Amino acid sequence: MTKQLVVNLFEMATPGHITHGLWRQPDNQRERYADIAYWVELAKIAEDAGFDAIFLADVVGAYDVYHGSFDPALERGLQIPNLDPLLLVAAMAAVTEHIGFGVTFSTTYEPPFAFARRMATLDHLTNGRVGWNIVTSYLPNAARNFGLADQIPHDTRYEIAAEYIDVLYKLWEGSWDDDAVVADKDAGLYSRPGTVRAIDHDGEHFRVAGPHLSEPSRQRVPVLFQASASTAGIAFAARHAEVLFTADRPPGALERNIAAIRDESVRQGRRADDTRFLVMATVIVAPTEDEARARYEEYRTYRDTEGPFIHMSVPFHPLQHPSDITVREALEREGRHDVIAAGGLPLHLTVGQFANAVDEAWDSRFLVVGDPGQVADAIERWLDEDGIDGINLRQYHSFDTARDFGELVVPELRRRGRMREAYTPGETLRERIFGEGPRLPERHPAARYRGGANL
Ligand SMILES: Cc1cc2nc3c(=O)[nH]c(=O)nc-3n(C[C@H](O)[C@H](O)[C@H](O)COP(=O)(O)O)c2cc1C
Repeated sequence: MTKQLVVNLFEMATPGHITHGLWRQPDNQRERYADIAYWVELAKIAEDAGFDAIFLADVVGAYDVYHGSFDPALERGLQIPNLDPLLLVAAMAAVTEHIGFGVTFSTTYEPPFAFARRMATLDHLTNGRVGWNIVTSYLPNAARNFGLADQIPHDTRYEIAAEYIDVLYKLWEGSWDDDAVVADKDAGLYSRPGTVRAIDHDGEHFRVAGPHLSEPSRQRVPVLFQASASTAGIAFAARHAEVLFTADRPPGALERNIAAIRDESVRQGRRADDTRFLVMATVIVAPTEDEARARYEEYRTYRDTEGPFIHMSVPFHPLQHPSDITVREALEREGRHDVIAAGGLPLHLTVGQFANAVDEAWDSRFLVVGDPGQVADAIERWLDEDGIDGINLRQYHSFDTARDFGELVVPELRRRGRMREAYTPGETLRERIFGEGPRLPERHPAARYRGGANL
């Protein structure tokens, strides 16, 4: 069967998400990110274009490792200022009928009970069109914003996430039976006692009594998105996630990640096609190849070369050293023996090689610049040869990126049978991606709490 593309528009409520410097283009709309009209317009454009979902990234701290300060991020609008993505979804849901929304929320800092209610609220308001990108938060500043002296160690964050999501499953799946709400005006009965229960969770990190405060929504559990690269992250993803973002570097990492997660999820009783793999992709399209290339070159003139260093929390100043000394020498010159001891940086590379590698890594391996036919050819190769199921489309320009994709690429992909012709009315996000029911299948760990079992 011809594989069809899952396509999300990658967004964040901030001027500079991942295409650093591009907000400076004179007609780019990104500085309107705090205006509800921006999100209303974007949602309509993306739905007209046929996107499956708008996917909203989020961080709950500022980038302050590079130069030991958040000033470089602040100057560039690099993910600061930013707004809460969950609150934007209600506005976008009100002006759309079909498009889904993926929102990022961290399991590390806020306890699960309130989040269970917020997400259930969004599943109701979107009529089952919402997904959750599960993150454990990588920024040291985020930890300090939530009362901690420093970051919780990486693998401990995933242990907390495992209990966090277990509490959510209990609330979303176990607390209310399907027939709990009768809303019978004559009998004066809204919900039936005996069909709604406390969860009485008493774990290592959380104590939650319940009941869940929201009545069951269509999906109950939002579509579970996750991006992981580590052993702990992959084990978590294999058990829980439905849609995975996979890093595509270094070479071979994508294939290894897909295989590792699929194999592990099957070992855990799930099916190979219960997980879908998305990559971040750049598509610069125009009616002709020459126009597309010219547009890409123009975008490149706005590119901010320091943005990736800030975003990747590079703990030294690559641009302030001769390019032919090694990373180790540069760190020694800055007295950063702590960074050398911590490992993780390619100390043997020259500073120039390191800077080039960061710059190259910033352009995903999934990058195409061309006319609609060339773009569709590339996307078909990504689907068939690279083994991915979909893309998160990186925005170089708001709203041209979404509009161009809709006007030029979608019709070509539809002609080739690589995208559906139209949305199916009333479909939930889970049904759109997996084609089965609105709820997680019985073989998913969330299902074990249904009907109040195993609480
Ligand atoms: C495409 C993509 C998007 C991501 N979006 C976010 C995000 O919005 N917020 C966040 O805190 N982390 C985000 N991450 C980081 C991941 O959640 C994860 O921490 C990272 O891939 C490293 O994997 P690990 O946690 O297994 O070490 C993203 C990662 C990728 C690849």
